[in-house]
Amino acid sequence: MVDSNKSSGPPEETPSHNPNGNVPSESDLALDEITEKVQESLGLEKRHKFWESQPVGQFKDLGDTSLPEDPIEAPTPLSEVKQEPYNLPTMYEWITCDIDSDEMCTKVYNLLANNYVEDDENMFRFNYSKEFLRWALRPPGYFKSWHIGVRVKSSKKLVAFITGVPARIRVRDEIVTMAEVNFLCVHKKLRSKRLAPVMIKEVTRRVHLENIWQAAYTAGIIIPTPITSCQYWHRSLNPKKLIEVGFSRLGPRMTMSRTIKLYKLPESTVTPGFRKMGLHDVPAVTHILRNYLSRFVVAPDFSEHDVEHWLLPTEGVIDSYVAESSKTHEITDFCSFYTLPSSILGNKNHSTLKAAYSYYNVCTKTPLLQLMNDALIVAKQKEFDVFNALDVMNNDTFLKELKFGPGDGSLHYYLYNYRIRHTLKPSELGLVLL
Ligand SMILES: CC(C)(COP(=O)(O)OP(=O)(O)OC[C@H]1O[C@@H](n2cnc3c(N)ncnc32)[C@H](O)[C@@H]1OP(=O)(O)O)[C@@H](O)C(=O)NCCC(=O)NCCS
Repeated sequence: MVDSNKSSGPPEETPSHNPNGNVPSESDLALDEITEKVQESLGLEKRHKFWESQPVGQFKDLGDTSLPEDPIEAPTPLSEVKQEPYNLPTMYEWITCDIDSDEMCTKVYNLLANNYVEDDENMFRFNYSKEFLRWALRPPGYFKSWHIGVRVKSSKKLVAFITGVPARIRVRDEIVTMAEVNFLCVHKKLRSKRLAPVMIKEVTRRVHLENIWQAAYTAGIIIPTPITSCQYWHRSLNPKKLIEVGFSRLGPRMTMSRTIKLYKLPESTVTPGFRKMGLHDVPAVTHILRNYLSRFVVAPDFSEHDVEHWLLPTEGVIDSYVAESSKTHEITDFCSFYTLPSSILGNKNHSTLKAAYSYYNVCTKTPLLQLMNDALIVAKQKEFDVFNALDVMNNDTFLKELKFGPGDGSLHYYLYNYRIRHTLKPSELGLVLL
């Protein structure tokens, strides 16, 4: 549920999607805004009828350090988990979406391509590819039953979707098996009819049936209660196109040619031994990645199997690079990004924005700044228009210097049925959800 279709210009340009024209320069600003919004919600009774009924951190408990940092509700015996699906309005029925089937994958693709996340001005809409969906939904140990659709009984038209995939996520010292819930989508014509809570309850039920009691998810909106709120940053690779499609704007004292020059990158990478990751790199990458992720409060607990699935390059889906020492042949550094294009809505000349999203990056020898500059260079070679990164992990150490500009929306991270005592800083988070 990554919502990064919210562009603003890099500092040198005028932000396009911020009505006030203010460039939020610090993530602190985002935190202030969130606090304000939470306070607003507190003032209004039953702002979140559904979420207030769920085992999630509640706004009223914010800052209550006497509460334990634990699951909010204990698991119930499996025999007590509701065995039949939740009721839907009579016209609709549940289906389990077999993503292996090309026909079903196309139906899911079309639902999302036409109805999934848009930016506030409805200029861009995420366009997850079919290959991406297959990758995102079939990690090691995935459950087919967690790929859930709702269709119209009579026409068989798919009108809503939600998914979960299993993941081991460490919260401080505890490794918790969770569902990563994603791709919640209700057809535009069926919005505001309280279908989303039914979708969420149904995926929760199916997760419980596998004896799993926690979940992690992200959203662009604030609901009870974020464990952290992050910001997207955007690095122009093809500034001319980004300006033409309204993703960014020419700065006040900037010309197109100066802007193009500003974002120009070297033709080739500079890190010695920088190359595409291969299958034989999986153990070494797992080793340095696990070591790096151990620094963060919340992070995935990746096995070699997970790394093979999530990080081995797949054309048009995930790109990963390692730096190998010429002397010792050790893998010292690693960087990765995934491919998530957006449809450009209503532009005569351009239909797709090709965006790369920073995934996991680890340095043990090369400075992170240099490694990420190399990531930008390969992304540019691969004809991406923009490189996006959240301010999670150590990303804030390179964003400004590498000419990323802050976006104008936040991405909030949530845990279901697990309480965190204090809101985390984005830099304390080691988790990227797709
Ligand atoms: C997100 C979406 C499924 C919500 O459906 P909807 O028809 O707008 O909302 P409904 O009337 O069915 O349900 C509203 C409830 O769902 C909750 N909800 C809405 N979006 C949510 C989200 N992304 N995650 C979790 N809960 C969400 C609301 O907070 C509300 O519950 P509350 O009263 O406790 O606050 C729909 O707007 C959609 O498909 N949007 C485009 C895709 C998208 O943004 N997906 C989510 C990506 S994070």
